[in-house]
Amino acid sequence: MRSSQQALAVTAKPRSESQTVSALGDQAALALENARLYQEAQHAYQELAATQAQLVRSETLRAVGALAAGAAHHLNNLLQVVTGRLELALSQCDSPGIQCQLIPALRAARDGAQVVKGLKSFSGTGPTPPLVPVDLNDLAEAALESTRPRWQNEAEERGVRIDVGLERGLIPQVAVAPSTMREVFVNLILNAVDALPRGGRITIKTWAADHRVQCAVSDTGTGMAAEIQRRVLEPFFTTKGPKRTGLGLSTNYGIIHRHGGDLRIESTEGRGTTVTFFLPEAGRHEAVPAPPEGQAVTRPMRILVIDDEADVRQVVSDMLAAEGHQVVEAANGTDGLSRLVDGPPFDLVLTDLGMPRMTGWEVARAIKASHPLVCVGLLTGWGDQPDARPEDRGVVNFILPKPATREAFRAAIARARPRHALA
Ligand SMILES: Nc1ncnc2c1ncn2[C@@H]1O[C@H](COP(=O)(O)OP(=O)(O)O)[C@@H](O)[C@H]1O
Ligand SMILES: [Mg+2]
Repeated sequence: MRSSQQALAVTAKPRSESQTVSALGDQAALALENARLYQEAQHAYQELAATQAQLVRSETLRAVGALAAGAAHHLNNLLQVVTGRLELALSQCDSPGIQCQLIPALRAARDGAQVVKGLKSFSGTGPTPPLVPVDLNDLAEAALESTRPRWQNEAEERGVRIDVGLERGLIPQVAVAPSTMREVFVNLILNAVDALPRGGRITIKTWAADHRVQCAVSDTGTGMAAEIQRRVLEPFFTTKGPKRTGLGLSTNYGIIHRHGGDLRIESTEGRGTTVTFFLPEAGRHEAVPAPPEGQAVTRPMRILVIDDEADVRQVVSDMLAAEGHQVVEAANGTDGLSRLVDGPPFDLVLTDLGMPRMTGWEVARAIKASHPLVCVGLLTGWGDQPDARPEDRGVVNFILPKPATREAFRAAIARARPRHALA
């Protein structure tokens, strides 16, 4: 008992002032250290959450892209049959009553083809035009000019004023497919116009940083709520009802990424939106010359059509026959190659791309090896193919996306310059 009282007395003994100050200091240091650790943990957590959101978004977009590409392929094969048959029926029909039925059907099928084209450009399987070095300022200016009817004339009709401005930075060239990149600007400008029902300002600004060309398209419009902002890159997401497709921003995202860049969207509800993207500066880049214009073919040709889908093969053959060509059909690559060996020579082989066993590229390579003078055209529902390596491209004279119209066949065949057209 005594000893415990003594012990108590020792512990209860008041601290000296310096001891108290030192203990307080230790506590304060500990608190500061804790606060710093907490802040670091918070920061790391936020970064992790952002990275995860970005990953989920890009994975989702990739999955949707693959889905879109597959759907586009099937739809294009079907649309080839529909548009081809309708075109042929129209060309053979004298009855105005029946023509009245066929024309809207053909128009609807072509509109369908446009929607599929949108899908393909989102998924990155659309045809990739050649990259050329360009000044992004010029593309922005061209896009502003081509959208003038929307931001000037239509706005005036609505009684509002939309000012546009291009702040041209001193920027290096970028290697892009000009028509595709112009589409990016057009999509952004039209979105800005849609967001300015009471007028306002659209500004496009370019600048150079870190071997990249940066570009921001801003508007002083309605802006977006956070919930909408989270969803704008989803294909077909639109807040504008059936008059819009909801493919603008998702397509832009795909295009910018395929050019090695990135895109981000900042928006404040009621204040406006800025879409910023960057593209890598063009290296030493040779412009790819446009293919030479061919002369129209006046004489009929002997053409081999290879396609595993019977309906597509037959409609393509009928379309070519209607142009006066002599057509032979083959249901696969092996059959096609054997027809090339026996019988009179062909001027052109038109082969489908995606076929089981032997792909269109393999057929084309085999033909160029055995019959180098025969022209080869690739007909594809996939758009330009991921396996279209530069060395592959030389083995075909042209690539034609499905659904191809008679006019498209005519133009491609004319450019292919066949060597021995039938007399
Ligand atoms: N500049 C903008 N200001 C406000 N909202 C925008 C803007 N750009 C895009 N959005 C929103 O993102 C949605 C998707 O845009 P987009 O993919 O271009 O498709 P669409 O224009 O066909 O609706 C729009 O419906 C709109 O809600
Ligand atoms: Mg849009």
